[in-house]
Amino acid sequence: MQITRFNFGRFPMRLLVTGGCGFIGANYIRHILETQPEDVIVNLDKLTYAGNPMNLADVEEIHGGSRYFLARGDIGNTELAAHLIESHEIDAVVNFAAETHVDRSIDDASPFIETNIAGTQNLLHTARTYGVKRFVHVSTDEVYGTLGPDGKFSEQTPLAPNSPYSASKAGADMLVRACHETYGYDTVITRCSNNYGPYQFPEKLIPLMISRAMADEPLPVYGDGQNVRDWIFVTDHCRGVDMALRQGASGGVYNFGGAAEKPNIDVVKTILAALGKPESLIKYVTDRPGHDRRYAMDFSLAERELGFTPLYDFERGIKETIAWYLANGEWLAGIESGDYLKFMQKWYGGRV
Ligand code: NAD
Ligand code: TYD
Repeated sequence: MQITRFNFGRFPMRLLVTGGCGFIGANYIRHILETQPEDVIVNLDKLTYAGNPMNLADVEEIHGGSRYFLARGDIGNTELAAHLIESHEIDAVVNFAAETHVDRSIDDASPFIETNIAGTQNLLHTARTYGVKRFVHVSTDEVYGTLGPDGKFSEQTPLAPNSPYSASKAGADMLVRACHETYGYDTVITRCSNNYGPYQFPEKLIPLMISRAMADEPLPVYGDGQNVRDWIFVTDHCRGVDMALRQGASGGVYNFGGAAEKPNIDVVKTILAALGKPESLIKYVTDRPGHDRRYAMDFSLAERELGFTPLYDFERGIKETIAWYLANGEWLAGIESGDYLKFMQKWYGGRV
């Protein structure tokens, strides 16, 4: 296959990664430190309930102060973003920072508007005016809305978000697009389907079901359990974002997916079977309002232009994910008890 390579081509790179203490950001930082031996990463993270510096404890120990720097702060803070860009001579921003849970957005949309829209606009403006060469914005398939039983989302699918979360992500995508069109700024947007894997906060379907099944607690399945998600193992998404950063077209939009469509109930039953737990733990509960029925990604553009293909199938990915949660009970307990606050004091002291 002939792959088009636009080649952003600045190697090694100094990256400002935002939201790096969250699930995907932490996996991305690990991926870069392992695969790009000379890159340097500054991680700007507000450390909300979802941001956990313990996700990068070993990274801090090995690379802290040389190839990895954590700054605690808000992407909406212009002064801080400008200071980090200037003092670390940042080449590119990779923006993962966001409020990410649909159910929380239904309860209260305001932090979603603040971070996902206003915060992204601030970071975009600061990156552009302080000479950062490229801005990669990490978005989601949820901006496309919902599918019926057939078809897939392509990059040409009109945006039609249905939750406050997806509406805030779509708003950010529009601002990134406008920045490219208006100022000619070098931006790339990535849109990915549902991720799973190590370090995911146990409010999302897969880690929630694993942790509750481990504790013999009921597993709340929304509606009829037939809503479909296209699951991608987190390291595959990280590979895709990095390909988009290094090889994506300026102004480009790239879909990523796992080619693994599953109804929620099948995912839940797979987890129960792997843990040797009974299906009687399943509890059907009232459906989420505005619940999107089906997501599925056409990522053929990323295949053609970036050489992307997911390396994990669902069977391998879910097996490794369950094994990780079983082996990291302390991580789960740490989240529940807020232990990471003590960890932060020990590691970061006055630095963040
Ligand atoms: P997460 O909730 O696990 O982590 C979000 C991180 O952002 C946390 O570390 C949090 O502290 C930080 N953050 C929040 N507000 C901030 C602010 N104002 N300033 C600085 N940092 C802030 O999220 P995730 O699942 O890792 O998702 C990362 C990105 O990927 C998000 O933009 C999300 O929309 C997108 N995405 C996620 C999925 C998925 O399945 N999880 C799928 C597609 C796209
Ligand atoms: P979630 O992990 O919240 O991701 P998203 O809503 O962004 O796709 O949910 C994945 C699917 O699982 C979604 O269809 C809602 C469903 N779900 C449940 O059935 N029960 C739960 O407790 C949760 C959190 C989600």
